[in-house]
Amino acid sequence: MSNGKFYITTPIYYPSAKLHIGHTYCTVATDAMARYMRMRGYDVMFLTGTDEHGQKIEQKAREAGVTPQQFVDNIVDGPRGIRDLWKLMNISNDRFIRTTDDYHVEAIQKIFKKMYEKGDIYKGKYKGKYCTPCESFWTETQLVDGKCPDCGREVVDAEEEAYFFRLSKYADRVQALLETPGFLEPASRVNEMINNFIKPGLEDLCVSRTSFTWGVPVDFDPGHVVYVWIDALSNYITALGYMNEKYDDFEKYWPADVHFVGKEIVRFHSIIWPAMLMSMELPMPKKIYGHGWLNFNGEKMSKSRGNVVDPYILAERYGVDTLRFFLLREFPFGSDGNFTNELLISRINIDLANSLGNLVSRTVAMIEKYFGGVLPAARAADPMDDELIAMAGALRGIYQQQMDKFAFQNAIVEVFKVLGRANKYIDETMPWMLAKDEANRPRLASVMYNLLETIRICTILLKPIIPDSCEKIFAQIGAGAELTTWDSAAVFGSMPAEAAVKKGEAVFPRIDVEKELAALNELTTVQEEPKEEVPVKPQIAFDEFDKVEMRVCKILECENVKKSKKLLRFKLDDGSAQPRQILSGIAEFYKPEELVGKTVAAVVNLAPRKMMGLESNGMLISAEAKDRCHLLMLDDAIPAGSILC
Ligand code: MSP
Repeated sequence: MSNGKFYITTPIYYPSAKLHIGHTYCTVATDAMARYMRMRGYDVMFLTGTDEHGQKIEQKAREAGVTPQQFVDNIVDGPRGIRDLWKLMNISNDRFIRTTDDYHVEAIQKIFKKMYEKGDIYKGKYKGKYCTPCESFWTETQLVDGKCPDCGREVVDAEEEAYFFRLSKYADRVQALLETPGFLEPASRVNEMINNFIKPGLEDLCVSRTSFTWGVPVDFDPGHVVYVWIDALSNYITALGYMNEKYDDFEKYWPADVHFVGKEIVRFHSIIWPAMLMSMELPMPKKIYGHGWLNFNGEKMSKSRGNVVDPYILAERYGVDTLRFFLLREFPFGSDGNFTNELLISRINIDLANSLGNLVSRTVAMIEKYFGGVLPAARAADPMDDELIAMAGALRGIYQQQMDKFAFQNAIVEVFKVLGRANKYIDETMPWMLAKDEANRPRLASVMYNLLETIRICTILLKPIIPDSCEKIFAQIGAGAELTTWDSAAVFGSMPAEAAVKKGEAVFPRIDVEKELAALNELTTVQEEPKEEVPVKPQIAFDEFDKVEMRVCKILECENVKKSKKLLRFKLDDGSAQPRQILSGIAEFYKPEELVGKTVAAVVNLAPRKMMGLESNGMLISAEAKDRCHLLMLDDAIPAGSILC
């Protein structure tokens, strides 16, 4: 059975922040949609990946003392990295793209050139702020109190040569696209885009930088790297083989049927991305869906607030399916949601443990108890069955209407209405009373059969949300593969008359609310941030290390360097005839007079370097802690000039 193709994507994750439940939310939703469409018989392509270039990554890598490539490799493929998380969360992506993959880099260069040759990319000047001592270019928004965010010094106006994309040229076409019903959903996001970005006038976009190097190089103009959003957005086509040889299914899958994206990046996807595609003369994606944000206890999830909800902790504690279910059942996909531990626990108990888990275990236990696990074929129907049968029979259609609108929450609610009705049906039919009289066996068998069928249909429809648990339920109710298909969910009465069950463990055990809440609150709010993996620099051979000469030095003089907040100038006795001058950026942490006479260590064979017009001949050894720098002080008994080895 094939219904055609369905290409769905998630935003590719930017590995500079800690992965939290917000990132997981979008990927789980995309996964559920991909599974649903596969179940419907579509040829699905589900793409996810990582967006690995840019100045922020370059900076983070520098702070960690590793190369940018090592930095991103660790977050993507390292322990508890992104690939591990998607595996844990049972994400069924068909492809995973890294923007550092060779084929992608090559394709970006070609895409950039294509737009340039068309005249849509041109060279201009990018205006910004410059910190002369740090040799760093900053945008207005990156400044801290109008000063350089690195050293706190004054910055000056400056210009940098850069390429620009003629976004303005496409403003009218983009507006028309935004106004096309169904292109951008939820519809409320359309006005936001038009009023905030199109109406004030679309300006051309700066699409290359020369002030850092961690990006895709513009091959026809060395020194320029491609703007990270041009690089990132193009992943949706390079991962299908556009402008590269790695894959060859661009014709088959493009245009995307839907890009799922968080609300803050709707602008990039619904304005810049279409304009890029217009420039490349490629078809537009059919839909952009901007989902809402998850907050935690009413606040934005942020590392500094310590409320980053760790998907590993929750999935390992409650199970992957429980977490997947909670994310999609609790929050309407298009709006913001507020994650609280109370909500999580109560949702597990109300829906999963009570309505679904309990219904399955009660039904299976009763069939075992009353019929030894196999239903007899003799039946006795009753009008009392009609409502349940009608609801279960109509469920697939109602569910489909909701899922086709990406209304995961509503779709799940519809399933649970039927499960709730089945629980009520048990109270109404009172199987334990029927079981008392042998004459009621056909009636009792009918009641059990109706329960099994209802469970089967509901479980099929929950497969995209909680795939592993559904398999466990199918095993317990004896539903073989042919009874778990989308088609079979439309027909009440598909199971054989002599259905057989097999008792298993409770699929969703009930949770002790008070105990769990206390434990969870501690884990998610009081817990210290787990220590980040800090990768060690690449190994060096001994003879490379041996080239470095470190000597014990006595501080003879020390003073502040004029016009510098950071630098101290040292005169040191390093055991040789001439005092050695070294400049060190530790003025914020020490008063010069405190240091005179101290015994310290210095690298003495570093090539000389000029700072603020003064020559520095070496480097004092200090330790960089989180918020300050500590000069390494040695025992005063060690003579100046002693070699450190
Ligand atoms: N790299 C870009 C996307 C490029 S796509 C061509 C990016 N990455 S991200 O890692 O910062 O975010 C990935 C996704 O997680 C985004 O869709 C973002 O909206 C989503 N979320 C991040 N925090 C979130 C919440 N607290 N709640 C819900 N989703 C949020 O943006």
